[in-house]
Amino acid sequence: MTVMSITNPVVTPFYDPTTSTFSYVVADPTTSAAAIIDPVLDYNPITREPSTHSARQLLDFVMLHGLKVQWILETHAHADHLSSAQWLKGELDGKPQVGIGAGIRQVQQTFKTRLSLEANFPADGSQFDVLFNDGDKLAIGSIPLEVIATPGHTPDSVTYLIGDAAFVGDTIFAPRYGSARCDFPGGNARTLYGSMQRLLSLPAQTRIFLCHDYPPAGVTPQFLSDPLAQRQNVHLKDAVTVDDFVKMRESRDATLKPPKLLEPSLRANVRAGHLTDPFFNTKLVDAKGVTP
Ligand SMILES: [Fe+2]
Repeated sequence: MTVMSITNPVVTPFYDPTTSTFSYVVADPTTSAAAIIDPVLDYNPITREPSTHSARQLLDFVMLHGLKVQWILETHAHADHLSSAQWLKGELDGKPQVGIGAGIRQVQQTFKTRLSLEANFPADGSQFDVLFNDGDKLAIGSIPLEVIATPGHTPDSVTYLIGDAAFVGDTIFAPRYGSARCDFPGGNARTLYGSMQRLLSLPAQTRIFLCHDYPPAGVTPQFLSDPLAQRQNVHLKDAVTVDDFVKMRESRDATLKPPKLLEPSLRANVRAGHLTDPFFNTKLVDAKGVTP
């Protein structure tokens, strides 16, 4: 499904049912410049085999439509799926830049210790091409892009506001589902509440594109929302105070299990999607059956 607007980006969602993740291709219809947001790399935890079925869908789409991908943007270092940013960068003409929030340094420092990464692993964000801070501005072709720091789920979480389209990562979920967990290292429920309120204060016509959805059986996953609909978010409505929210979020987080792909995801994603960690002892399996 493609969402179109005359002066705003054309946004095409791609859903990975295994990890319940939405990736997006965001295109400027006047210049064909484009960005890819939160691309998934498939991963088999039994064989430890990464593969490119999901990433190939993105690549095939941008090739089919003649898009010039300038950016591959991560909303944060995901803990539930691996990023295909580096594989896509290698496949795409023009070698797009891979960007993430500057808070990735804190995430890297934390997981360098927790995952016992090599002593010379640089926790300085240098694995990425660009680190973004709140208020940074760039463009996708003729469409302006503003970075909004939205920490709370993780310290590196950012929202990319591209024209009227906000890519919010895990800062807010569908109104019926609520909000993301804040119990990862560096997460903070009080901070997340502030970031969610910031998203609610965006112009009413803003299209809010979600990173995940976990609908009940038989319900189609929801990728699109808006600030008005989010006022009815189950974790915010009825004038929930910040203290109420923190209490709810922390008690809920105490019941959650770690994501199934936590370790491989972070081993890959703190390296910007490079699979250079010895943990990955098998080669990448390309969905076309070719091992690059
Ligand atoms: Fe996340």
